[in-house]
Amino acid sequence: MLIAIDGPAGAGKSTVARAVARALGFGYLDSGAMYRAAALAALRGGDPTRVSVQLGERVLLDGEDVTDELRTPEVTEMASKIAAEPAVRAALVEMQRAQISRGDHVAEGRDIGTVVWPDAELKVFLTATPEQRARRRAVELGGDPEAILVEQRIRDERDRRREHSPLRPAPDAVELDTTDLDLEQVVDRIVALTAERTP
Ligand code: CDP
Repeated sequence: MLIAIDGPAGAGKSTVARAVARALGFGYLDSGAMYRAAALAALRGGDPTRVSVQLGERVLLDGEDVTDELRTPEVTEMASKIAAEPAVRAALVEMQRAQISRGDHVAEGRDIGTVVWPDAELKVFLTATPEQRARRRAVELGGDPEAILVEQRIRDERDRRREHSPLRPAPDAVELDTTDLDLEQVVDRIVALTAERTP
């Protein structure tokens, strides 16, 4: 079974997807971490279409543990840029599919329900107001919410407007506005939706 959780930055995808995977005993795929690892490769002068990324407790880029380097502003900006390149997406989508093709997983990103795994049994599109998303990011990573809001808006627009695999809900996705919900409420809702769809 595959649960796809898509949505913009700061909607709570990573925290929610991890907690749902733990609650259900499913595997967890953070596709954003793959774009970030490929971005790091590009920043180091490499070719982001020719990387090997292994996801798990730690993220390995061509065998090297790069987990602690993935959330810098430089990597964040570069990930957003290379994510618009069709060749990068093709390479990373193939790696993502390979990692979720067997067993039960929760996969999170921007295009899991629309492109990576359109047959997902459950698709959730998580949203929240831009202000709330920026506040959450500021709590998580530190920094000024106002500055984060500006930066986030630029990345959101890039994700939504790109020609290839733009950020949008799949037609059959359940949209969940998390602005006024806490983590537990969101996780409970997704676990309940999963139970409804389990044969
Ligand atoms: O954590 P945050 O939402 O800020 O970003 P992320 O999920 O780690 O993803 C980093 C970047 O990769 C995003 O800005 C997206 O542009 C891109 N991305 C994508 O295009 N498709 C995905 N399935 C996942 C991430």
